[in-house]
Amino acid sequence: MTFRIVQWTTGNVGKKSVQAIVDNAQLELVGCYAWSAEKVGHDVGELCGIGPLGVRATDDVDALVALEPDCVVYNPMFADADELIRILRAGINVVATAEFITGHQMGADRDRIVEACELGGSTIFGSGINPGFIQLLAIVTAGISDRVDRVSVVESFDTTIYNSPATEIPMGFGYPADQPDLPAITEKGSAIFREAVLLVADALGVELDDIRCEVDYASTTEDLALPGDWSIAAGCVAGIDVRWKGFVGTRDVVEVRGIWTKGQTLEPAWPMDFGYTIRVEGRPTIKTTLSFEPPTDFVAETLDDFVMLGLTITAMPAITAIPAVVAAAPGIATYNDLPLLLPRGVLSHA
Ligand SMILES: NC(=O)c1ccc[n+]([C@@H]2O[C@H](COP(=O)([O-])OP(=O)(O)OC[C@H]3O[C@@H](n4cnc5c(N)ncnc54)[C@H](OP(=O)(O)O)[C@@H]3O)[C@@H](O)[C@H]2O)c1
Repeated sequence: MTFRIVQWTTGNVGKKSVQAIVDNAQLELVGCYAWSAEKVGHDVGELCGIGPLGVRATDDVDALVALEPDCVVYNPMFADADELIRILRAGINVVATAEFITGHQMGADRDRIVEACELGGSTIFGSGINPGFIQLLAIVTAGISDRVDRVSVVESFDTTIYNSPATEIPMGFGYPADQPDLPAITEKGSAIFREAVLLVADALGVELDDIRCEVDYASTTEDLALPGDWSIAAGCVAGIDVRWKGFVGTRDVVEVRGIWTKGQTLEPAWPMDFGYTIRVEGRPTIKTTLSFEPPTDFVAETLDDFVMLGLTITAMPAITAIPAVVAAAPGIATYNDLPLLLPRGVLSHA
């Protein structure tokens, strides 16, 4: 079976999604939404730097809905509840990387999303690498201990070459390190990790009493020039260590932690890893790490070629889920609902 796909935006992750869709024989790109007016009317392949595909980007949502695709790959910068409802009510499934795992941070809009799914007979699934696939890996990892005390996921990266100031500034990057409301800014900007904590707790079958966000900052001692035409002034935040913790009573049983830094001029200078560490504390305690490196035939011409590797592991969890999401019961589906997701259509040709 071939799944007909509409791509939603062609930013960092979206470009990679388009490439993955056209490379996969079980997926067919039939349309593309452009949020940016200047992208409307342009060939999607050209927008993504992979040559013409014969599909033009449009901002006409009705026209995209009228294509009756099996699924929308939803990669905009910010999720728009009304837009999602329009798609889901029309019976079109959604796989998203944009601000959606369980939908709980959407408040009342979550109920509207569920209602739209029921009306349209459609399903929405949200993932990415973190939040997303890495929580699935943690859940799977916890399956080989006969007693689990705590599940912790730590992401640790220098994100200097990631070009998305509009999603990073709301996390707290670039603010004066002593700004009093900074922790509240980071808590709001990283709120999707609350859903990641909920996903792991749901997998463990526990109801959390509380979810709290803690954060520490490092500031840069020198001005930093960054991709996307932004900069961080000396004395401002260039390192964030944010910990979302789910508590049962006074014990934190789930932790999702992100340590993101920019450059080599941080004060304090935190020891950094490159990748993800899952630690299931229990009997026994299990440690799983996920890191990635270029393929053996990798030829990098620009820094963007390296960034694309990270964007690949962000885009693919949503793309890989498409067949299962199309087959799923209407409503919000998470990793705890879907069957094992098979990496179909990606084996390289000899
Ligand atoms: N879970 C994970 O592991 C993970 C990791 C990274 C990113 N993400 C999420 O994935 C999504 C895409 O990330 P990205 O780095 O690809 O983002 P991005 O490149 O900064 O933006 C994606 C696209 O969103 C559109 N856009 C611009 N401003 C917008 C606005 N104010 N409201 C709605 N759409 C807007 C633009 O569409 P056009 O293409 O039409 O210009 C842009 O290209 C974000 O929600 C991000 O938080 C998730």
